[in-house]
Amino acid sequence: MSIVYLNGEFIPPEQAKISPMDRGFLFGDGIYEVIPSYDNKFVGFTPHIDRLLDGLAAIEINHPYDHAFFEEICHQLCEQNGGGDLGIYIHVSRGADTKRHHAFTQNIRPTLFAYAFEIPPAPCVDDTKINTYKVISAQDLRWQRCNIKSTSLLGNVMHYQRSHQAGFDETLLFNEKDELTEAASCNCFIVKDGVVITPKLDHQKLPGITRLLILDILDKYSDIPVEERVVTRDEVFAADEIWLTSSTKQVGPVRQLDDKIINNGNLGDIWRQTQALFTAHQFDYNDY
Ligand code: PDD
Repeated sequence: MSIVYLNGEFIPPEQAKISPMDRGFLFGDGIYEVIPSYDNKFVGFTPHIDRLLDGLAAIEINHPYDHAFFEEICHQLCEQNGGGDLGIYIHVSRGADTKRHHAFTQNIRPTLFAYAFEIPPAPCVDDTKINTYKVISAQDLRWQRCNIKSTSLLGNVMHYQRSHQAGFDETLLFNEKDELTEAASCNCFIVKDGVVITPKLDHQKLPGITRLLILDILDKYSDIPVEERVVTRDEVFAADEIWLTSSTKQVGPVRQLDDKIINNGNLGDIWRQTQALFTAHQFDYNDY
């Protein structure tokens, strides 16, 4: 990470300073995005910025930003950090006030920070190079507004950390009715008898951009049947395939859930088709 963006300036990270009175620091009062870029081509730039603007509106952060403004910052960050496989992290907090006070006023200037970090190369459907994931299951103990991509991620951090402490990669989360919500940092899909199934969006899940692209790509370019609906814990444990999806993992196959090996440890056929279609069409979503 050689050059970051902070409030209008491209500077070395050690020069990037924010006030301790920033509400992002004090309250986690902000919205963020992660946009993948491979060789200076973004994946889902338009829906990523749409979601960022929706999040800012949802928590009433006033700002002057639009797609073109963020595009310029993202391009500059790619260029100034050597291109290649990069994730662009964008973080807008409500900004620094004069004192710590739960209520916010409308006249604070938001703090805008962005930086580029290395991500794994885009998965190609080559069995020797595919990352597969071991996940645990847990009850979803996060807040009730998980559809907002808030920088307040303590609930996600705790779930994620638990899996890592147990030697796993991620945690699949189930609500009080034993319905799958998502994972600590990914959305989830299952495959059963050739049907791709993913939990329907609501306040319990982030509307993932990878999820959105997968659904659109499968609809446009395949005959694979897809269902968006409630997915029960029993269905997840009986699934032929389980996928984690996110901007840095793309379509990530799960090989183990708790002590259960998925699909006898093999990569799934529907995963192969889906990841190949994703690879072919991932750059189609950058016009606004
Ligand atoms: N995580 N659900 C949660 C809770 C997430 O944090 C993420 C992304 C996703 C997938 O969303 P998308 O497909 O838009 O990346 C689902 C990012 C990558 C992160 O926090 O670093």
